[in-house]
Amino acid sequence: MAQLWGGRFTKQTDDLVYHFNASISFDQRFFEEDIEGSIAHVVMLAKQGILTNEEKDSIVKGLGDIRREVLEGRLAITEEYEDVHSFVEAKLIERIGEAGKKMHTGRSRNDQVALDLRLYIRKEILAVDGLLKELLCVLLRIQKEHLNTYMPGFTHLQKAQPVTLAHHMGAYFEMFKRDRSRMHDIFMRMNYCPLGAGALAGTTYPLDRSYTASMLGFEGPTLNSMDSVSDRDYVIEFLSAASTIMMHLSRFSEEIIIWNSNEYRFIELDDAYSTGSSIMPQKKNPDIAELVRGKTGRVYGALVSILTTMKGLPLAYNKDMQEDKELTFDAVDTVKNCLELFTGMLDTAGFRREVMAKSALGGFTNATDAADYLVGKGVPFRDAHGIVGKLVLTCIEKQCSIEDLTLEQFKELSPVFEQDIYDAVSLKTCVEKRLTLGAPGTEAMRQVIADNEAYLNADFK
Ligand code: ARG
Repeated sequence: MAQLWGGRFTKQTDDLVYHFNASISFDQRFFEEDIEGSIAHVVMLAKQGILTNEEKDSIVKGLGDIRREVLEGRLAITEEYEDVHSFVEAKLIERIGEAGKKMHTGRSRNDQVALDLRLYIRKEILAVDGLLKELLCVLLRIQKEHLNTYMPGFTHLQKAQPVTLAHHMGAYFEMFKRDRSRMHDIFMRMNYCPLGAGALAGTTYPLDRSYTASMLGFEGPTLNSMDSVSDRDYVIEFLSAASTIMMHLSRFSEEIIIWNSNEYRFIELDDAYSTGSSIMPQKKNPDIAELVRGKTGRVYGALVSILTTMKGLPLAYNKDMQEDKELTFDAVDTVKNCLELFTGMLDTAGFRREVMAKSALGGFTNATDAADYLVGKGVPFRDAHGIVGKLVLTCIEKQCSIEDLTLEQFKELSPVFEQDIYDAVSLKTCVEKRLTLGAPGTEAMRQVIADNEAYLNADFK
């Protein structure tokens, strides 16, 4: 056991207590952030005359050595240290002696861990943003290739009106675009530095908190020391945004699974992104999509878990907050893995244009257009709705589609129908005439795609 405290204790910590309390097994994940924060802290301490330049240089070199040795696998982070902060400080003192004992001047593990977690989440926000952007690029490519790939649009999972694959992909493009903008918002809101808050009440040393903040790339220092050490809003916001990403991926996965089913056959997943069955030789399963859908639950779980942990906590730091880490790490791994795999699966998938178009022809997806045709000839919409309803009933009896009826059959229900009804209810017309901004018609889609292309070419900030 190597602890940073013990002076006021007369007994050794119980073994079980030690391990229950320790966080080294997981907080070593942000050991680089811990070192980065410590370097900024001691550089500031030297600037303020709290450490000498020699002490600072020796600490900075020692920290750099530790960092390198760990990264190169020459120094192991072992469980005899309570947490990553204790590990780094103990190794520093082992190496440079007295000066190492001064590193923690004007700092507490409470503001230190708050800093480490912020640095870590800030980095992961950028990583998630990059993965979202890659997914958006694939979605944009598919949209450009499938402007005229007709398919049924659904409500209640029943065929509703025809759309295009480009339009369907465009819906997901908007969702993941909003996810990026959430990442951006969280980054801006959390980008303040808690270092210098001390245990909870600041310190008596003349720290320059703005200097440390700017060295670490923050907008500035946080403004209340108690809030600084006990705020985990940014974790909650990040997990909430991550949950929303997973919800989007999960909905998309569900559609891929349906489209991949024997009944639909809209999509052909690449062999590299599918799996087989140990017993049924014919199987090619969409396991990746199913796993993404399944893993959504763990990210939601992380969000609910941190919300619950934080809910009864009085100010300021409480050890409960150590629970913030494992779930955050798990959620980060999950959302990043899922984004990466989903993007690969989508990028390598093929779409069966003819199957989709044929499916769009069935299910009376042009019924609204038949009604609109009558409206165009002066029939009030409510009456048109009723006439076409009867038309559909006739088709169901005859087991045919609207466009299969003869003109006489049309006229039996309304004398207003003329030869041009066939063009009005053709799949092409049904899609291409929908030209309101945001609709599936090719010209409307082209404009949105151009806007989204410009958006993708702009940077995160
Ligand atoms: N491992 C601790 C955590 O993750 C670091 C802060 C410890 N602070 C303390 N007062 N015991 O929250």
